[in-house]
Amino acid sequence: MKCPVCHTNEARLESGILLICLDCETRMNDDVVQLRLSKTNLEHIGIPPQYHDAPIQEVRGSNYVYGNPGTGKTTYVVGIAKFYMSIGASVQFMNVMEVLAELRSLVFKNVAEYDFLYKYLVADVLVMDDVGVRKNSEWHEQTLYLILNHRLNHGLVTVVTGNTNLDGMVGKLGERCVSRLERMCNLVCLN
Ligand SMILES: Nc1ncnc2c1ncn2[C@@H]1O[C@H](COP(=O)(O)OP(=O)(O)OP(=O)(O)O)[C@@H](O)[C@H]1O
Ligand SMILES: [Mg+2]
Ligand SMILES: [Zn+2]
Repeated sequence: MKCPVCHTNEARLESGILLICLDCETRMNDDVVQLRLSKTNLEHIGIPPQYHDAPIQEVRGSNYVYGNPGTGKTTYVVGIAKFYMSIGASVQFMNVMEVLAELRSLVFKNVAEYDFLYKYLVADVLVMDDVGVRKNSEWHEQTLYLILNHRLNHGLVTVVTGNTNLDGMVGKLGERCVSRLERMCNLVCLN
């Protein structure tokens, strides 16, 4: 029997089940991956346009990626986000300072904190770019803690970047956030 998609190759028979040909299956999988990694989707989950072409990094699990300014941290973690998107995981990307500033402005307008944070709490994969850019206020620390603690407790993949190793983050994020990161993450140094 011919493959019902291309009508050219023979259909495959596997364990008594008829399947479309391998060429068509590969082409369809490629199309799905291309759709998952479309600019629209990259934009939608928060990846800045200048990083859309970052090469895919097949890196699994939670990671803390650190290094000096300009060592390629954002490029690297966008690559990880793209890997997870390509396999169909739900991914969110956040620049920590930007998102916390936005949340802070909403809190003043009495928009519920959890409604805003929800998508960052529940995503299969959360990328948190640039933690600890400066010393966090008590409010920043608490909000970061809430996110990290939720993700740790639910075993969700969290990929974080910062410009110092975790010891250097204690003074910026507080001990409780750093201890969550230590428990969750593999360490990657890009210097
Ligand atoms: N593997 C790489 N090879 C060559 N150039 C790279 C690589 N990764 C990133 N770059 C380039 O280096 C520059 C800095 O990359 P990126 O913004 O990812 O670094 P960063 O560590 O996130 O910087 P910052 O600390 O300022 O946030 C960019 O112009 C990027 O295109
Ligand atoms: Mg960066
Ligand atoms: Zn076919």
